[in-house]
Amino acid sequence: MTDIIERYDISERHFWLRGARPDRPVEYDADTAIWNVYGHPEAQEILGDPATYSSDTMRLIPKGLIPESDEFPTEGLITQMDPPEHGKLRKLVSSAFTRKVVADLEPRIASLTGELLDAARERGRLELVTDLAYPLPVIVIAELLGVPSGDRALFKRWADALFQRDTKISLTKPVEEQSADMRATLTPWKEMSEYLAGHAEERGRRPRADLLTKLVEAEVDGERLPGDQVVTFAIILLLAGHVTTTMLLGNTVLCLDAFPERQEEVRARRASIPAAIEESLRFLTPFAAVARSTTREAELGGVTVPADQLLMVWVGSANRDPRQFRDPGVFDPGRDPNPHLAFGRGIHFCLGAPLARLEGRVALEVLLDRHPVLRTDPGDPVEFMPTPTMTGVRRLPLV
Ligand code: HEM
Repeated sequence: MTDIIERYDISERHFWLRGARPDRPVEYDADTAIWNVYGHPEAQEILGDPATYSSDTMRLIPKGLIPESDEFPTEGLITQMDPPEHGKLRKLVSSAFTRKVVADLEPRIASLTGELLDAARERGRLELVTDLAYPLPVIVIAELLGVPSGDRALFKRWADALFQRDTKISLTKPVEEQSADMRATLTPWKEMSEYLAGHAEERGRRPRADLLTKLVEAEVDGERLPGDQVVTFAIILLLAGHVTTTMLLGNTVLCLDAFPERQEEVRARRASIPAAIEESLRFLTPFAAVARSTTREAELGGVTVPADQLLMVWVGSANRDPRQFRDPGVFDPGRDPNPHLAFGRGIHFCLGAPLARLEGRVALEVLLDRHPVLRTDPGDPVEFMPTPTMTGVRRLPLV
């Protein structure tokens, strides 16, 4: 058994990979004035109680650190909303982004995976991220939304500007030291808004059979989504729809490489592919942390957290809590049950989980069919994302 953390020396950046320490599941970081939550029961408690642990974390960020709201429309962000507003928006967008819409994509995902792997074969090399894990989800989400997938170089530039940065928010560091970093996210956000607003307006005039049209036309109790919220939600779908799934695909192949006996088992029993995807989500959680803020004083994991505090809930660490998972450092697709928190939990549970799971399963089926062995190339370095909260490879050359 090879340990991915040691082999790639990622325990400094992705410190949470060491897993929850049962004796200290909740820790206050005086340097940043942020509470870090590492334990599984504590993470579950937070995600299941939106009245105490609000998703509106922007209210605690020092003034001047984030751009003004007219430049950076955080109000319509579903991930920042609490009940009852959250429920209303979630109902509306769910009426457009249904399980059937996702399930119908399966044949397209399979044929696209085949085409991308054919193109890689012609080029004579397979770098998993560039050749498959990035283009597959980005083309799928672009086609689903109804924006040209040929614009994906643009989407990549925006996503890189937002996520390929090693920014760490601190409530204590002077605003001037941090605001330049935060402002750098403004340009890609504005460009994305303008791009998607153009497409959404078009759909208002000329409806098409795409998700953007469905979002423009979605109606619950006679109410439609305001135009700016259609745009904000489309931005979230475009970004969340590919960045995390890219990491999931790369991480799964990395796990099967590091645990070759598991790869053999999954090959021999294809029905275990969905379980291997779930275990990959637990073992290398792509989106390692979600933020919350306390609305009142709360007892959590043996400590008292005052009101109006910012918490980072390290779901990646919770997914390695020995109180919940036996041998958490072992990649075991046979794990059952596997109550990982990689998609969150409760009212904000990832809306795209069915799509991410479908893409993961189909891509892995095709990869295993076409490649008798999936192995990293020992002569070519694997590269990881630079941000502690995003766990995934951005370069994965295979032999
Ligand atoms: C929410 C992870 C793929 C759309 C979330 C949350 C997590 C997450 C942890 C909860 C955030 C919170 O509680 O604050 C992931 C991972 C993915 C993935 C690990 C892939 C492996 C996707 C995809 C889409 C998507 C493919 C869309 C196409 C969303 C949306 C929300 C969300 C819209 C907000 C839901 C709400 O606030 O009610 N995701 N996601 N995600 N995700 Fe995903």
